Amino acid sequence: MANFNQKLTLFLPFFFFLILKLQTYAQGDQQVPCYFIFGDSLADAGNNNILLTLTKSNYPPYGIDFPLGATGRFCNGRTIIDVLTDLLGFKQYIPPFPKAIGRQLLQGVNYASAGSGIRQETGKDLGQRVWLAKQLVQHSNTVSRINGIFGNSRVASDHLSKCLYTVGIGSNDYINNYYKPEIYVSGNIYSPEEYADILAKELETNLKLLHSFGAKVVAVFGLSGIGCTPTVVEKFGGQPICYNKVNSEVQLFNDRVQTLVNRLNKNLNDAKFTYVNITSIFAEILPQIAYINFTASCCERMKDLGTCVPFSAPCSNRSNYEFFDGFHPTESTNKLVGNRIFTTKSPQDISPYTLQQLIAA
Ligand SMILES: *[C@@H]1O[C@H](CO)[C@@H](O)[C@H](O)[C@H]1NC(C)=O
Ligand SMILES: *[C@@H]1O[C@H](CO)[C@@H](O)[C@H](O)[C@H]1NC(C)=O
Ligand SMILES: *[C@@H]1O[C@H](CO)[C@@H](O)[C@H](O)[C@H]1NC(C)=O
Repeated sequence: MANFNQKLTLFLPFFFFLILKLQTYAQGDQQVPCYFIFGDSLADAGNNNILLTLTKSNYPPYGIDFPLGATGRFCNGRTIIDVLTDLLGFKQYIPPFPKAIGRQLLQGVNYASAGSGIRQETGKDLGQRVWLAKQLVQHSNTVSRINGIFGNSRVASDHLSKCLYTVGIGSNDYINNYYKPEIYVSGNIYSPEEYADILAKELETNLKLLHSFGAKVVAVFGLSGIGCTPTVVEKFGGQPICYNKVNSEVQLFNDRVQTLVNRLNKNLNDAKFTYVNITSIFAEILPQIAYINFTASCCERMKDLGTCVPFSAPCSNRSNYEFFDGFHPTESTNKLVGNRIFTTKSPQDISPYTLQQLIAA
């Protein structure tokens, strides 16, 4: 008996050590406790599935390379957001708002909605969508539910302050608003500079609101080269593979977002904001891949919508294409972009904080 007790005392510290070790491993594995996502189709993970809209992707060939098949992601596989979620060490992808229930909310929610923009009217010709201000209304609902789960608003706001928030929106304010003068007035009444000012101002209001809901770690994505997407090139033409007028007008918005991020860092000094320069990241990664086809989409697309023809057969080797459909990159492009966002230290790509500096406690 004595012998047994002796052995136990010898072993107990070892067991405690093992448990401690497992705990650090579990925590060290996931770099942030939670991740909230605001955006459009580039980040949508199924929010549009329940809406009355033409901008849907919950059918094949979307998801052909995704473990769960067609989920409402506009990609053959993972979006940039999914790639980041994996790199951050999450065991599961962040659920879309209608599917996020109970304690799942503590890991984060994806509010991104295809066809949506910063402006409410953006994308209305395509049907229902959740525009940015409405995504924030949904988030305020999430925040009260999280308060309920913790039963203590101080614990809840401590939790929310440690989450990562990404906001990537504005492409549709151009594609499905400014550049559709037959439906929207914005292109007729605002100069490109005025329009960029209006969008940046509305984005600012929403980012301040997000901060008021407890966000302190925020990455704001600039817009990518919309003028290089197969659908825009097809609609407006472009030499050799991009319609540069679109890109330079969108750049006016990006420049204002970078300025906005710097201003928010100065004015809201309990929070960190960073700007992710998607233009520069694409410019970095694409020349590294000689075999990529930049001009065509992998799937056969519906002419005006730019999304894949339902149940059509996609290209056989998805990694040979930059774009899966008329607007959205393939998983292989997203992987390169996501990896670069995660690892880059170049202030050209991400500033003033790298992603690691942003999420560091
Ligand atoms: C982003 O990168 C591009 C290309 O490297 C550069 O021209 C631009 O000034 C950078 N900043 C913003 C806000 O777009
Ligand atoms: C890209 O795809 C298009 C359409 O399938 C084809 O015409 C073109 O030759 C391809 N370009 C390259 C570089 O493979
Ligand atoms: C797809 O294309 C890439 C690049 O050309 C190549 O390395 C890869 O082996 C191809 N995959 C298949 C399944 O053919």
